[in-house]
Amino acid sequence: MTELRHSNMKNPSLQLALVSWGWGVDMLVGFWFIIAYQVLVHAFTANGARAIVICAAGLVVVFKDQLIKRYGKPSQFLHLWSRRKAWNRAAVVCGLVGPFGWKPKLLKTIPTVFGENLVVQLPGGNHPGELEELVDALASMFQAREVRVVRDPSNASLAHISIVKRDPLKEGVFAWPFMERQRCSLWDPISLGMDETGRAASISLPERNVLIGGEPGAGKSVLLSILVATAALDPEVKLTLMDGKLVELAAWRGCADRCVGPEASEAIEVLGELRKEMNHRYERLLELKKRKVERGDGLSFHVVVVDELAFYLGTSDRKMKTEMTELLRDLVARGRAAGIIVLAATQKPSADVIPTQIRDLFSFKVAMRCATPQASDTVLGQGWAAEGYSAATIDPVARGVGFLLAEGGVPVRFRSCHLTDEHIDAIAARAQAIRGRT
Ligand SMILES: Nc1ncnc2c1ncn2[C@@H]1O[C@H](COP(=O)(O)OP(=O)(O)OP(=O)(O)O)[C@@H](O)[C@H]1O
Ligand SMILES: [Mg+2]
Repeated sequence: MTELRHSNMKNPSLQLALVSWGWGVDMLVGFWFIIAYQVLVHAFTANGARAIVICAAGLVVVFKDQLIKRYGKPSQFLHLWSRRKAWNRAAVVCGLVGPFGWKPKLLKTIPTVFGENLVVQLPGGNHPGELEELVDALASMFQAREVRVVRDPSNASLAHISIVKRDPLKEGVFAWPFMERQRCSLWDPISLGMDETGRAASISLPERNVLIGGEPGAGKSVLLSILVATAALDPEVKLTLMDGKLVELAAWRGCADRCVGPEASEAIEVLGELRKEMNHRYERLLELKKRKVERGDGLSFHVVVVDELAFYLGTSDRKMKTEMTELLRDLVARGRAAGIIVLAATQKPSADVIPTQIRDLFSFKVAMRCATPQASDTVLGQGWAAEGYSAATIDPVARGVGFLLAEGGVPVRFRSCHLTDEHIDAIAARAQAIRGRT
């Protein structure tokens, strides 16, 4: 267990004293109220004291709005009061107390579908990173499934602590809202599923690439199918499919411009062609005096889908592996503005398979269930698991649940919509028809 800097919480009797102090303050407030009333009775007789109490109550009623504005509604005030006690107790037991009994102060609680969010102010000189190693201890104190900590983007002394008590994503299968659409546009946001706050989880693909990682059977190909289905239903979009397993993307072959099976040399050839196309697109943008592809300028998107990326990057031929890595890195790095979007899924996203320099270029990263927090971090980026955003905590039976991380954001736990093989066949047939390929 780590402590805040200069913590003095090695001493259990001091811990007991601090917890008791919390209760003592409440009792002291009640005690002083009785004493004050007795003093009033003594000074002004019982009727006078009652009149003063009634006047005080009257003032509270008159200034009700101002008091609510300052301290919140009585119910909120009492709720915050009781949560503060729980937080103070947790802070003491977890060793979050510095000199003079300074401890992180609970400022606000926000109820959520999965539990509650606490906004906590840390004593000067401490920062939210110091809470990271305490997430399990705090989860145990709050009897929660998990606890996540994130720093407030605008104030380094504030930590947002999510107490996750329920998993609203555990049950049920979510239908894809675009299921019956005749056409889609890749310029519009794509609905992927639902996040744990009950909001739609969606992403926008223009100028973005997506990396999906997770253990076998976690739901990577289903999620990839949602993105491919949207791309296929946009007749403007060109599709290149690279399928290390041959069968995962088979249903979309009729909509694709190029298909690559489990053959690394073929993949290198196609990626080489895509690089030429990308360079050609940049020449075209130069002619048009534009920096990037924009809606309505006639330059369509080209979506490159790679299922089982590790298969292609893990080839034993060293020369091929280097060539493949370099082509893919170039496509992910430079393709965005030229309208080339890479969507990749892999079971093994470790650095020896997918170099970090490529992984970090993906704007959207999705970690479906992973076996270890380290594996989760290899998808989302170093350090997220320590803050409580670990795909290793996802229930193995909850297929399609993952963490979605957008560039510069915080991972959002979500469950993808489910597309069965029948759904995929129906959408693919519709997509082929609008592409004039039947
Ligand atoms: N969002 C979801 N809702 C319900 N069930 C799902 C969901 N996503 C996936 N599943 C179930 O999990 C199974 C495995 O999903 P999927 O094939 O996408 O896994 P994968 O991660 O691609 O596995 P592999 O690494 O072996 O290719 C699916 O056949 C489906 O039954
Ligand atoms: Mg798969």
